[in-house]
Amino acid sequence: MIGRLNHVAIAVPDLEAAAARYRDTLGATVGAAQDEPEHGVTVIFIDLPNTKIELLYPLGENSPITGFLAKNPSGGIHHICYEVEDILAVRDRLIAGGARVLGGAEPKIGAHGKPVLFLHPKDFNGCLIELEQA
Ligand code: CO
Repeated sequence: MIGRLNHVAIAVPDLEAAAARYRDTLGATVGAAQDEPEHGVTVIFIDLPNTKIELLYPLGENSPITGFLAKNPSGGIHHICYEVEDILAVRDRLIAGGARVLGGAEPKIGAHGKPVLFLHPKDFNGCLIELEQA
């Protein structure tokens, strides 16, 4: 049901410093910062040959990243994103199986302009999972 690993998201306390570290120290291809007000984050994507890294920084007062950074002041892995073909079919199967879909279970448009959903980390071994319709 799940497909490719689309990205690993890392919450960071200083977006420009993290981007510079990946660009200058690790030699990665680092994109431009983009605000995602509906998700309460500013993101920078880093292209790798087989997947992407999403740097996450809080945007606005109710950002879901603020509390995470309070608990993890130097940053940390926040979620991983798997691609799916039919996000509504996957959602219905997950709910039927007892998994909790966050945010009222209605897909939002994610950073790539495609529908996304998030799954409760307690149902997936402590890992917040994002599903993106490929
Ligand atoms: Co993501």
